[in-house]
Amino acid sequence: MAISQKTIFITGGSTGIGLSIAKELAKNGNKLCLFARNTANLQKAQALVTGAGAKCNIYPVDAKDYDSTKAAIDKAVSETGAPYLLINCVGRAYPEHFENITAAMMEDTMRTNFSSVWNAVQAALPHMKAKGGKIVNTSSIGGFVGVFGYADYSASKFAIIGFSEVLKQELAKYNIKVQVLCPPDTDTPGFAEENKTKPEETKEISKTAKLMTSEALAKETVKALEGNTFMIIPGGDGKLTYWMKRHFPFIVNMVMNSAIRKVQSKK
Ligand SMILES: NC(=O)c1ccc[n+]([C@@H]2O[C@H](COP(=O)([O-])OP(=O)(O)OC[C@H]3O[C@@H](n4cnc5c(N)ncnc54)[C@H](OP(=O)(O)O)[C@@H]3O)[C@@H](O)[C@H]2O)c1
Repeated sequence: MAISQKTIFITGGSTGIGLSIAKELAKNGNKLCLFARNTANLQKAQALVTGAGAKCNIYPVDAKDYDSTKAAIDKAVSETGAPYLLINCVGRAYPEHFENITAAMMEDTMRTNFSSVWNAVQAALPHMKAKGGKIVNTSSIGGFVGVFGYADYSASKFAIIGFSEVLKQELAKYNIKVQVLCPPDTDTPGFAEENKTKPEETKEISKTAKLMTSEALAKETVKALEGNTFMIIPGGDGKLTYWMKRHFPFIVNMVMNSAIRKVQSKK
């Protein structure tokens, strides 16, 4: 059943994947609330989502901080009602060799990618418990395969999958379903930023899969939201990687090691 007449909160909904999902959900009488830091980008997103047919409110917030996240979510609930669907899309990657990632950089990655999800769920849950609903946390292919150059990022994205598995068990009693979105490389402003620091080895590994558009990813994701499959893995390459990692992990390692060796043999 298509998601209709629902209140939907999207953290990280102002650009990229979060915004594309918001536009895809801006049908069927849904109401959207978007959360992110940059107000100008939120306003642009609001115009696009409204143009696509939905009522849309925006809330500037740094989701790394629990108190601010709680205040923003409480405000959104008072203005639009409790969310049926909470989609957490906040995240970023600054790929680097482990040796160049300081403890402070790693902590910032964990706070941006993992604490932001924790904070939003913690703040939204009291409002969702009465009626039930759905929570979708955005991990990555790098959340089930450790990839060269993503020491801090992969750690944060693996954490999201573990956290979501626990939530799935604990929140079932409130009729709250939990899913994890694992995008492959997707053409977004965040991806363009990520490419600036990508080690050559990481770029070579990335060549083994196609780049998705955020629009195609959003279409597939929204379709998957209508079901309850725990892992949402848009695109054929991502699904194949997941299947191979589970059944033939040595092949996944072989493909990655061969890409790494190809680059390092030229140095
Ligand atoms: N694109 C890919 O290839 C790819 C692949 C796998 C997984 N992912 C994951 O998908 C999610 C979306 O990525 P994207 O590529 O769409 O990135 P994006 O275009 O940079 O979008 C990130 C969104 O998160 C918001 N955000 C970032 N830090 C925030 C903070 N501290 N507090 C509140 N909002 C914050 C951004 O707005 P502000 O900067 O204004 O706050 C923006 O709305 C991320 O979790 C990312 O790790 C992406």
